[in-house]
Amino acid sequence: MDLLLLEKALLALFFAATVAVAISRLRRKRFKLPPGPIPVPVFGNWLQVGDNLNHRVLAKLAKKYGDIFVLRMGQQNLVIVSSPELAKEVLKTQGVEFGSRTRSVVFDIFSGDGQDMTFAAYGDHWRKMRRIMTVPFFTSKVVPQYSRSWEEEAASMVEEFRKNPQASTNGIGVRIRLQLLMHNNIYRIMFDKTFEGENDPLFVNLHDLNIKRAVLAHSLAYNYGDFIPIFRPFLRGYLNICKETNEKRLQVFDFFIQERKNVIASSTIKRRDNQGLRFPGIDHILEAQEKGEINEENVRYIVENVNIGGIDTVTRSLEWAIAELANNPEVQKKLQLELDTVLERGLQITEPDTHKLPYLLAVIKETLRLRMALPLLVPHMNINDAKLDGYDIPAESRISVNAWWLANNPAHWKDPEQFRPDRFLEEESHVQVNGNDFRYIPFGVGRRSCPGIVMALPIFCITLGRLVQNFDILVPPGQSEIDTAERAGQFSLHILKPYKVVFKPRSI
Ligand code: HEM
Repeated sequence: MDLLLLEKALLALFFAATVAVAISRLRRKRFKLPPGPIPVPVFGNWLQVGDNLNHRVLAKLAKKYGDIFVLRMGQQNLVIVSSPELAKEVLKTQGVEFGSRTRSVVFDIFSGDGQDMTFAAYGDHWRKMRRIMTVPFFTSKVVPQYSRSWEEEAASMVEEFRKNPQASTNGIGVRIRLQLLMHNNIYRIMFDKTFEGENDPLFVNLHDLNIKRAVLAHSLAYNYGDFIPIFRPFLRGYLNICKETNEKRLQVFDFFIQERKNVIASSTIKRRDNQGLRFPGIDHILEAQEKGEINEENVRYIVENVNIGGIDTVTRSLEWAIAELANNPEVQKKLQLELDTVLERGLQITEPDTHKLPYLLAVIKETLRLRMALPLLVPHMNINDAKLDGYDIPAESRISVNAWWLANNPAHWKDPEQFRPDRFLEEESHVQVNGNDFRYIPFGVGRRSCPGIVMALPIFCITLGRLVQNFDILVPPGQSEIDTAERAGQFSLHILKPYKVVFKPRSI
C-alpha cells in the first residue's frame, strides 16, 4: 500500500517537476523577483537552505542577499524583509496589500480553515472578528477591571515560592507555575474562572492540550507538505494527530462555554442591563452569536485564539526575563533599587505603580528585544500580485518580517547581543513598545499588530515586579549561569531547556 503511494507520489513529482520548470520559465519572464539563491525545479531552494529558517538563519541570509530576498520553498515563495524601511512598507504603508495570512496544512486545522481571527485572510470576516473581540479583551478597560486579579495571581505565586524550601536552596522550575499563572489570568478574563493549582485535573488537561497544539503547530516536521502539496499523503499520520488534538481542545473549550451558558441562563442579571458589573469576555462573544453576527465555530475559535495568543507568549517572555535577571545580577540589583525607592517600604507593586518604574519597563523591553516571543511576527501574505522595493511579489507569497533582526542588527544597535536594559533609558530612550520606531516591533505594527499588548504589558510588569521585590533570583548552586540556548519554531522563540532558579526571600 505504501509502495503504491510512493509510486504515485514519484509519478506526480515527475509531472510537477515538468510543470514547475515550465511555470518558472514563464514567471522569470513576467516577474522581477527579489534576489535570492537560484532555485532548482520542484524543490526550489529547500534543499539548499533546509527547514529550520529561524530568525538567526534568516539574518545570515539577509547579510548575503540583502534587506529583501526570496526563497523558493517548493511551490511557495517566502519573502524575507530585514530593514526598518521595508518593515514599515509591509506592515503600514501597504498594510492592506500584505495584511493576509499564509495558509498551511497544520494552521488550517488549528484555525478551522480560517474561522478564527489570527489566521483569517484580511477582509470582512477578519474585521468583524477583530471588532467583536476588541470590546471584551483588547480595550484599555480590561486593565482597571482585571489588574487586581493579576496582582492576586502574582501574590499567590510569591507566597508559594516563599513556602517552598527547595525554592530558596537548590532552586525550582518556573515554567509550569508561570503557565498556571497565565492560564488563570486569561481564563478569568474569558470565563471568570481560575484553576486550583498545578494538579487541578482541568488545568492538567487543558495545559497538556495547549502545549501539544503549540508543539504540533510550531514543529518544522510538516513543512514539506506546505512546500510541495503532492507530498501531503505522507503527512496523513501527522495531520490526524493535529485533527485529534484540535477536536479535544475544542471539546474542552465547549465545556467552559457551556458552563458559562448555564450561569447566564440561571442568572437574573443580564449583561446588557448592567454596565457597572464585571462580566467575563465570553458573555460578549455569546451575545454576538445570539445576534447572528458570528456562528458557534467562530465562538470556539475565538476562545482558541485567546488561549494561544495570550498564554504562551507572556509565559515564555517571563521565563526569559527571569533567566536574564539571574544571569545579570547587576541589572537585578538596579531593578530592586528602583522598586525599593519608588514604592514605599513593604508595599507590593500594583498596576498604577507600573507607570512610574522606567527601569522595570526597560528590563521588559530589553527581554522582548533580545528574546522576542515571535521573532518573525506571524507570517503575512499578499492575496494579489504586489510590488515591494521595486520588485514583484507574486500573489500568495509568505512574507516574514525578521523583527528580531531589526532589533538586533549591530548596524542599528549598540552591542545588541548584550542584555542591557539601560539602552532604553539612554541612547534608545525614545523607543516605545507600540512600534514608534520600526527597528523595534515585538508586537508588530498596523492592522495585524498584537491587540493583546494592552494586557500583556501590565501583567508582565506586575508579575516580574513582584518576583524581584520579594526575592533575589539566583543561579542554582554549582551552576555558573542559566543556559539560555534558544529553540525556534515556525515563528516562535522559546528557551530550549526548562531551567531551575533559586528564589531567596528578601526582607522588604
Ligand atoms: C509578550 C506578549 C505578546 C507578544 C510579544 C505578542 C506578539 C504578537 C505579534 C508579533 C503578533 C503578530 C503581528 C503581525 O503579524 O504583524 C501578535 C498577534 C496577535 N496577538 Fe499577540 N503578543 C503577546 C501577547 C498577546 C496576548 C496577551 C493576547 C491576547 C490575550 C494576544 C493576542 C494576539 C492576537 C489575537 C493576534 C492576532 C492579530 C491579528 O491577526 O489580527 N497577544 N502578537
